[in-house]
Amino acid sequence: MSSSAWFSPYDPSRRVGSVINVSPSEVKANLSDAGSGEAKWHLGDRIPAGEVNEFMFIDCGQTAVLGRLVHVWLDGAERLSVDAISMDNGLNNPIGIIQLLTSIDPASGAIFQGIKSHPRLGSQIYSAHPKLISTLAEGDSNDDEIKLDIAELPYDSTVNITVTPDKLFARHCAVLGATGGGKSYSISRLMQEVQQNGGKALLLDPTGEYADLDCETYYVGDHEKANSENSVIFPHWKLPESDIFAFLRPSAQTQSPKLSSAILSQRIVRRYYGKYGEIKVNENHILIKSNQKKEPVNKALNFIEKDLNSKRWCFKHLAEQIVQECVWPTGKKTGPYPPEIDESIWGAASDGELGYCMSLISRIKSYSENQHLKWLIDPPDGKDIPTLLDEFSTSRSNKRTLRLDLSAVPFEANGREILVNAIGRKLMDLARNGIINHHNPLLVFIDEAHQFLNKTIGDEASAIKLDSFGNIAKEGRKYGLNVVIATQRPRDIPEDVLSQIGSLIVHRLTNYHDQEVVKRAVGTMDQRSASFLPTLSQGEALLLGIDFPFPMTVKMKKPKIKPTSKSAEYSIAWKQEYKVIRSPIVDYLDIPNDLIHDFEALDIEYLSDEGSSGDMTYSYYFEIPSDTSEELQKAMGWSIGGFVRDIPEHVLDNQTTE
Ligand SMILES: Nc1ncnc2c1ncn2[C@@H]1O[C@H](COP(=O)(O)OP(=O)(O)OP(=O)(O)O)[C@@H](O)[C@H]1O
Ligand SMILES: [Mg+2]
Repeated sequence: MSSSAWFSPYDPSRRVGSVINVSPSEVKANLSDAGSGEAKWHLGDRIPAGEVNEFMFIDCGQTAVLGRLVHVWLDGAERLSVDAISMDNGLNNPIGIIQLLTSIDPASGAIFQGIKSHPRLGSQIYSAHPKLISTLAEGDSNDDEIKLDIAELPYDSTVNITVTPDKLFARHCAVLGATGGGKSYSISRLMQEVQQNGGKALLLDPTGEYADLDCETYYVGDHEKANSENSVIFPHWKLPESDIFAFLRPSAQTQSPKLSSAILSQRIVRRYYGKYGEIKVNENHILIKSNQKKEPVNKALNFIEKDLNSKRWCFKHLAEQIVQECVWPTGKKTGPYPPEIDESIWGAASDGELGYCMSLISRIKSYSENQHLKWLIDPPDGKDIPTLLDEFSTSRSNKRTLRLDLSAVPFEANGREILVNAIGRKLMDLARNGIINHHNPLLVFIDEAHQFLNKTIGDEASAIKLDSFGNIAKEGRKYGLNVVIATQRPRDIPEDVLSQIGSLIVHRLTNYHDQEVVKRAVGTMDQRSASFLPTLSQGEALLLGIDFPFPMTVKMKKPKIKPTSKSAEYSIAWKQEYKVIRSPIVDYLDIPNDLIHDFEALDIEYLSDEGSSGDMTYSYYFEIPSDTSEELQKAMGWSIGGFVRDIPEHVLDNQTTE
């Protein structure tokens, strides 16, 4: 906190009452002005003097205690004193409960954690000046530190709440709230503040809401705005085997080993393309195993396992390769009956094993043909995400913000989860290798994080946990890799991830379980603070965290560039639909939209104008019917009984005419 901003909290004009009952975490107080029906004003400042959620200072001698008014009421006998406006207000004795938040030094504004000394009976209470609250909320910071201008006081928009990036992001940040609470707006605002202050950030945009943000964008999948310059792929062969397993979900007993060996066989085919030697490969690029020698294949396997350049394999051959993998483990020697076992060759095809693998094979075939998975499965050559992240995260990169638009990635086959998990893993690798570090930190923003975090794929026997962002939460901080996650389902965030999160921006939350999760995450949030959560309005949030001295309600500032909502806009869409069905005659006469209904309700008789000869139709005309509404007459300049002439023939092609 800059001490220059501090002034005495004990301003006599802001005095609102005195303490009458003290307990460890709250006090009861006489709040003389609370029953007057309206707030007080002093020198242009509004003093709420008894409104719930108002901050108050209690004079405790050496220290002051900052508290928040959470409940205010009148005793039974006095309750009628506020009933009628004509009655004299102010003659009542309202009582309030003030929740004690923290002790401060009244001279400097320095914060002591906890309550250093409790108020005494009769201690004086002062309504806190908004500027002091904003100074306290910012906590310790130097004047030369960067401050992000993210919020203002809900009841006084002239008072800004600024926060240093270190406080907000250094221990990860979560933006929580029910749908429509304002999470995406907050993410947008944070992102723009980061951008403005030269920070480096990657935004994973699962809905495409942030399309207008001024930053470099890459699209995954078949997006309408994607072109050869801005499309990125994540080739399947760059994923570890565990991700391929998560994607294909083989059964543990038979299918998993066959899938593994099929991938290895295909890597051999790719590596030794055209120079197979003793390895037998058919014209469809499938490695043949039945009755073939094992040794050449094993040698090749040894080689490719060590060779980093032999990672590629072709997905479209996988199904047929699995068929080839279904062979007996050993062959038989030729010679006298019964033949001896030959360990050096594989046996004949095993129909039993093939039967077990059929479900996997058909899944592979259907994914191979899925156009929406083209960014993953055998993608055409192009920029891939691991390379993009390599380039973006080096300190030499001059790109500061990057948006990955995932809106075209399908939900089917767990494509999204696997992709985001793989991105998380890649980022963690970059951090562990020192590319992302404390001098070159990276912030990763993920909206709608419940779609990706804490996902387990597959059944019990073959469950695969996608936990790379959990690892970032646990480990990323020590490398300078931090996440900002937004989700409407806090209960979906794993406990171990949540406990690593240092700051929270909590928008309106109505679900009890979600509120409990937030309470568990931050020790400073008690039941009293949580009770504000269901009542927050759009854009309002509770700002809390390890580095914030007390939980406080703020109004998040709107971003300059707003996210575009991706929910259906029924009114607009239906109105457009209405426009589309304007008939040619309505268009020709230029009937205003809101009068089309009036016009179409008329029983108009269109007559043909056949000139004097009478042998051809030149145009049509009609008489303005007697039931034409006044609005329509006025808008069109028509009068009943008048004629509308010279309507070209083509306009009435589909109308019944005389
Ligand atoms: N800081 C703000 N100030 C004023 N209005 C806001 C603010 N934040 C959000 N709103 C309003 O609330 C609406 C919903 O906000 P937003 O899209 O950010 O919600 P959300 O929490 O991301 O919802 P969802 O979970 O559906 O994605 C916005 O369209 C906007 O009108
Ligand atoms: Mg949103």
